[in-house]
Amino acid sequence: MKATAKANTNIALIKYWGKRDEELFLPMNSSLSITLDSFYTITNVEFSRNLNKDIFMLNNHQASESESNKVFRFLDKIRKLAGTHLHAVVTSENKVPTAAGFASSASGFAALAAAAAKALNLELDERELSILARQGSGSACRSIYGGYVEWQRGERADGKDSYAKQLLSERDWNISILSCLVASGQKQVSSREGMKRTALTSPFYSGWLNTVEKDLERAKEAIRLRDFESLGKIVEANALKMHATMLGAEPPILYWQSGTMEVMHHIQNLRLSGISAYFTIDAGPNVKVLCLPEDEQRVYESLLTLPSVQNVIICHPGAGVSYL
Ligand code: ADP
Ligand code: DP6
Ligand code: CO
Repeated sequence: MKATAKANTNIALIKYWGKRDEELFLPMNSSLSITLDSFYTITNVEFSRNLNKDIFMLNNHQASESESNKVFRFLDKIRKLAGTHLHAVVTSENKVPTAAGFASSASGFAALAAAAAKALNLELDERELSILARQGSGSACRSIYGGYVEWQRGERADGKDSYAKQLLSERDWNISILSCLVASGQKQVSSREGMKRTALTSPFYSGWLNTVEKDLERAKEAIRLRDFESLGKIVEANALKMHATMLGAEPPILYWQSGTMEVMHHIQNLRLSGISAYFTIDAGPNVKVLCLPEDEQRVYESLLTLPSVQNVIICHPGAGVSYL
């Protein structure tokens, strides 16, 4: 009744922002991501008759109450699925900054879903695992798969058609994703809270919903054609549009710090000098830069010269969930 799984994080190219069902984690819009090879979570789950409550250890410490409650609620869902009342010890290690806009919730809940399902011998296929992981953190449904992944929002109220699908494997198209650390502190507003507030209060949210599916189609076409320029343009614009919707929320949500601006301007200047590089930003201050592998070293070195950039981690498309 124990198992260990590894899941990589993913970076959204077309963002998931807003839920139509909070309990089932059903999104308002479809989204698209690349699973990364250098940021991941390893989670061990052990169910036992000798426990009278769940325990969640994160990075060698007892997790906070709010972190633990999310995990325990997720275990409740999986217990229901498996028809068991057993409690579990969950031990997780994030090789990614937690709650800093590097998608720790994606790798965290994908690894937890996979390990818990295996520990209970549920024998889920990838689609079922994606549906399960989604109910821990929406973005986690995409981390089940490697490479370029689409999460179709689905139409059903029970969420059975809201899961991720692989568009290209990690071997099909290599691009470079340079993750720039400008601030490692935990965000003040979680993704969950941020998207809820935006959907409820931002007058710009309808503009987001009216255009995001079109952005997704354009991004998918660029991926199909391996057209890096077109992909970069739409990805950068979609990220800025998501942040614009949250600036309109009440109270407004601003994840950017001065270093965020410094990296964005730097990338726009690189383009003026003829290098094809684009940025995207999730719910946090840190920036991910997309470029072609042949420009990776130049872009990497130029990013490291920026005063606010503490570190740059080079990533490429990575694999889906695995078991250890
Ligand atoms: P991020 O940008 O890191 O995804 P979120 O606000 O979406 O930020 O989610 C962060 C939260 O995800 C954490 O506060 C914690 O509740 C949860 N989380 C992070 N890592 C793990 C993990 N390894 N296992 C379970 N839950 C995790
Ligand atoms: C900006 O999946 O972290 O990174 O479903 O509430 O856990 P919950 O939120 P989460 O939201 C991710 C938001 C995003 C965009 C994306 O990854 O698509
Ligand atoms: Co997250």
